[in-house]
Amino acid sequence: MLLLSGPNLDRLGKREPEIYGSATLSDVHALVVEIAKALDAEVVCRQSNHEGLLIDWINSAEDEGFDGILINPGALTHTSFALYDSLRGAGLPAIEVHLSNPDAREPFRRRSRIAPACLGRVAGFGAESYALGLRGLIVALRARRATA
Ligand code: DQA
Repeated sequence: MLLLSGPNLDRLGKREPEIYGSATLSDVHALVVEIAKALDAEVVCRQSNHEGLLIDWINSAEDEGFDGILINPGALTHTSFALYDSLRGAGLPAIEVHLSNPDAREPFRRRSRIAPACLGRVAGFGAESYALGLRGLIVALRARRATA
């Protein structure tokens, strides 16, 4: 699996802890790696503040041998048609994850541009959103394989 985190998520732990909690991105990555291991899977974690680099990673994910993508695009969730296009074209299932619940916040956060390109979405559970999203992605991939 490939886990991608977008702009400002490198600041987790320091950034608005009342919204995003005290866990750092390294803590989140450690949790996700542990859950992947327990499920007999592997996850590679990457973060960038740059939309183009996130797109490059999505576009090369299949060729790099990944089976699925877990993505928290940060504020790009609400603006980026380019990320939507690259997820549509990736050829891999993707799950959208958020620490906070964007639907319960400012109106501009209520629209996700990438949601229609994703298999599912987990939001509002802090770092646990990533864990739940990873579990969902692995279960979905295994169910696909079983019926293929
Ligand atoms: C976020 C929600 C976005 O609206 C916000 O711009 C972020 C973080 C989350 O994980 O809750 O940067 O994706």
